[in-house]
Amino acid sequence: MHYPFEPYRIKAVEPIPILSREARIKRIEEARYNLFLLKAEHVTIDFLTDSGTGAMSAAQWAALQQGDESYAGARSFSHFISTIRSYMPFKHIFPAHQGRAAEHLLFSVVMKPGFIVPNNTHFDTTRGNVEYLKGEAVDIGSSEGMQASEEHPFKGNMDCDRLRNLLEKNADLVPLVMITVTDNASGGQPVSMENIRTVKAICDEFNKPLFIDACRFAENAYFIKTCEPGYEDHSIESIVREMFSYADGMTMSAKKDCLVNIGGWVACNNDAWAQQIEDQLILFEGFPTYGGLAGRDLDAIAVGLTEVMDEAYLRARVGAVAYFADALEAVGVPVIRPPGGHAVFVDALACLPHVDALAYPGQALAVSLYVEGGVRSVEVGTVMFGKQPDGTEKPAKRDWIRLALPRRVYTQSHLDYTVDVFKRVLECKDNLKGFRIVREQAHLRHFTAHFEPIKNS
Ligand SMILES: Cc1ncc(COP(=O)(O)O)c(C=O)c1O
Repeated sequence: MHYPFEPYRIKAVEPIPILSREARIKRIEEARYNLFLLKAEHVTIDFLTDSGTGAMSAAQWAALQQGDESYAGARSFSHFISTIRSYMPFKHIFPAHQGRAAEHLLFSVVMKPGFIVPNNTHFDTTRGNVEYLKGEAVDIGSSEGMQASEEHPFKGNMDCDRLRNLLEKNADLVPLVMITVTDNASGGQPVSMENIRTVKAICDEFNKPLFIDACRFAENAYFIKTCEPGYEDHSIESIVREMFSYADGMTMSAKKDCLVNIGGWVACNNDAWAQQIEDQLILFEGFPTYGGLAGRDLDAIAVGLTEVMDEAYLRARVGAVAYFADALEAVGVPVIRPPGGHAVFVDALACLPHVDALAYPGQALAVSLYVEGGVRSVEVGTVMFGKQPDGTEKPAKRDWIRLALPRRVYTQSHLDYTVDVFKRVLECKDNLKGFRIVREQAHLRHFTAHFEPIKNS
């Protein structure tokens, strides 16, 4: 087990809250056993998400000061566009306040009721946006991706046979094909260049545009460099350029691989779609040269987009995730192998086999980690994906929890502390009970649902 060298040093620090176990029991009860409803001031180590939680660099803080806040045609917008275009040369690029806003802009233009969107695995907001517009979000990830214990280097790949079958049967209903890099919902697993190239060739055969959900494009590029034969000597920048050369558009949450706390964009080459996206943008987000962001945010994104491609940074980032996964596995935690780029995923059903899938073992495990050590994770299982469009519920394909590492925030001692917390949870795991949902919303229920412990589950 090796903890990687971080190619940066700390310049500003923020204290971490430390509560007693009794206080944590009270806080989680007040939060209705939903970790999203906890106050951050009651969380010791926050692995809820890697989205927007990273630390900006000195250069990014300096760029904020350069922000041009002109309503239209700001210098910051030109900086933003020219930086993106140097790696992702799309004809039309529109800023948006975050990834789901970009998804909303895209899907509100391309979707009609009954349309189908294939993706390796839809992230929850992507699925939510498709289903909100009465479309069907179809996951066609590779079979290796479904095997929690199998060591395949590119478990995020799309199943190209299933894509072809789907297009042969239903091409008229498919407005675009989407591929998510890395594949967050399947464990932050990367997609190979070969897979992206093959998916693009199939899309071309059926005359369908390929869009990349690109939140973690740089982490994906690092995996291509280190695991895909033929790419060892390529720079991260050239791998990124090749990945996007196969795409006709993209959605982006800059909160991940642009190392900022807010922002995103949607891009495409289709003029007619771009016109409609622009109309929607003006209506819902803002003028096309700022799209719901401040000028300074656009500058920070542009700087972050360049910084994230530093190979030494990516080595430390992906290496810290691997260290964390290995350390957890060494104390008996069933982690998903191999670890992905931004998070460690734990198989909650394997950990708590006595808890029924519809009593949410992932939620039980996540609550227990908070109670034992103030560690916040998130359930990625039946709570998140079990609700069906017709209102019924069925067990999700996987019942995992995710511990996502914010970028440039935590150090080795924070990861080691969390491993110790897991040890305590494993000691009492047979006594953990499941939960029932007592209040939920129609869409993305995991964010706001209220839970109640099941006394005799
Ligand atoms: C793969 C993927 N797509 C889309 C999104 C949505 O981005 P945002 O949270 O900025 O709306 C996320 C966020 O985690 C994601 O991981």
